[in-house]
Amino acid sequence: MDYSQWKELLKSSRSSRGYDENCKVSRTELEQMVDCARYTPSTMNLQPLRYRLVHEAQEVETLQSLTKWAGALKELHLPREGHRPPAFILICHDTHIAAATPGFLRDVGIVSQTILLSAKVMGLGGCALGAFSEEEVGRALNLPEHVKPMLVLAIGKPDETIVLKEAQAGEKITYYRDENDVHYVPKRKLEDVLL
Ligand SMILES: Cc1cc2nc3c(=O)[nH]c(=O)nc-3n(C[C@H](O)[C@H](O)[C@H](O)COP(=O)(O)O)c2cc1C
Repeated sequence: MDYSQWKELLKSSRSSRGYDENCKVSRTELEQMVDCARYTPSTMNLQPLRYRLVHEAQEVETLQSLTKWAGALKELHLPREGHRPPAFILICHDTHIAAATPGFLRDVGIVSQTILLSAKVMGLGGCALGAFSEEEVGRALNLPEHVKPMLVLAIGKPDETIVLKEAQAGEKITYYRDENDVHYVPKRKLEDVLL
């Protein structure tokens, strides 16, 4: 893969909030994504992250109900009924391995993007979801006390159109949708992110 193909892959890997519910995601596929995450850098190589694969219907529904989607477009109630993700990967921190959670937030970021890009090359997609109650999710999935939920990743086959926009300096960068439900994501320009 050359640079331009790599860049296209990154540009096409967007946060999807609508999925084809007919396209199931198997446990094996979720395991393959986590298998890629194992190779990422980790602070002091402690690798304190653990992954809970959620793919059984009842658990998927429960986790769906505990996550909040598209806070900037609350009135749309995404994902819509019939377009919900068929699976989730819950990234957790095992505090028995390393106690201090904040230091490992960087690890969470690295593994999450690795999982989402792995999903992309497997013909799937996803969305990172940080808006949930750690206690509610831990309880619902029967996680032991020392395993802390950090980030939820929805995984499925996206069925919506997402368009990247170059944000003009000073312009709002909130994502938005048009009347055809096309989702627009403004990204700051290269010259605006370089210091
Ligand atoms: C750490 C993290 C937490 C996020 N939490 C949520 C969330 O709770 N709900 C949601 O709908 N999107 C969430 N997102 C997705 C962002 O809204 C999304 O990345 C942003 O709108 C830009 O879109 P893009 O990912 O397609 O570039 C989160 C993204 C990140 C990186």
